Amino acid sequence: MDAAELWNVEYLAGRYLDDPPVGFVDDIVTAAARYGLRRGVYIGCGNGRNLLPLLDAGLDLIGVDISAEAIAQLRARRPDRADRLIVGDLSAVPGDHDLVVGIQVFQHGTRAQAHRHLGEAAARVAPGGLLCVRVNATATDIEYDHDVVETAPGDGYTIRYRSGPKTGLDIRFFTAHELQALLGDRFTEEMPLRLHSTRRTPPAAGQWSQWEGIWQRVGRRGRTGADRLVTQDDARFRRAVVPHRVTVASDVDVAAHDDGPVAGQAEVGGGVGGDVGGGDEQPLAPGGHRRRGTAP
Ligand SMILES: C[S@@+](CC[C@H](N)C(=O)[O-])C[C@H]1O[C@@H](n2cnc3c(N)ncnc32)[C@H](O)[C@@H]1O
Repeated sequence: MDAAELWNVEYLAGRYLDDPPVGFVDDIVTAAARYGLRRGVYIGCGNGRNLLPLLDAGLDLIGVDISAEAIAQLRARRPDRADRLIVGDLSAVPGDHDLVVGIQVFQHGTRAQAHRHLGEAAARVAPGGLLCVRVNATATDIEYDHDVVETAPGDGYTIRYRSGPKTGLDIRFFTAHELQALLGDRFTEEMPLRLHSTRRTPPAAGQWSQWEGIWQRVGRRGRTGADRLVTQDDARFRRAVVPHRVTVASDVDVAAHDDGPVAGQAEVGGGVGGDVGGGDEQPLAPGGHRRRGTAP
């Protein structure tokens, strides 16, 4: 089964349908409003737990996902957006974008594949635009049987699952340094990289961790093209959400916890902003049903 087929099975089994958005959605809305940016693309949007609140907050994002089932569910939820919900990958949305969002998608594949995907997404951010990324962190306690297929000192690692919903898939776990090195000097940090950890609900053990960061593409916003024109909607969005800069606190000291234990930082119980019931590593129970309240 390839990745698209595997994700189709997951979505048919109810993946994410009842899950709240991740808290990072609020950070994206706040950062976008700060610069009056509304339009862009959400790569790997799934069936909408995060895309829908982003749209409701006033962003105008094209949703792209390789899973036809995810897009079908999303179109049923938002028929008014059907023409902006696309089965495919980044190649389906050519050109530059003011906002490029990827939540738990750039971790798919080997190191080379994951790096290429994130690099290509970063290259699609227009000058002055924002790249919003949430991605697996090496601090995660991995729940399912797996083989480590790539590892190197000071770098992240790649695993191939031997059991669980992603059996056979290669999944990357990043270090902070790895992410920062990938983006290089083309970006400045808008929201400093932070580690978000979620404890699994017993009997599942351990926690799973994600890096969350927002970067701004160096350069001035252009003045040509439809996306460059500030509309009344853009201005209203900016006024409505946040008129001034806010400081986003880091959950943890990134350097100290990049690869280390983070149990003390784990979010207990989830709720809006947490990922209980909705993580990338979210297991399905035997028979294909999601075990509520557990994560990787
Ligand atoms: C862990 S899910 C996250 C879904 C959504 N971002 C969320 O947080 O609810 C990863 C999603 O990425 C999609 N995906 C994987 N590789 C992709 C690619 N190269 N391009 C677009 N979508 C991809 C999968 O189909 C799946 O829906």
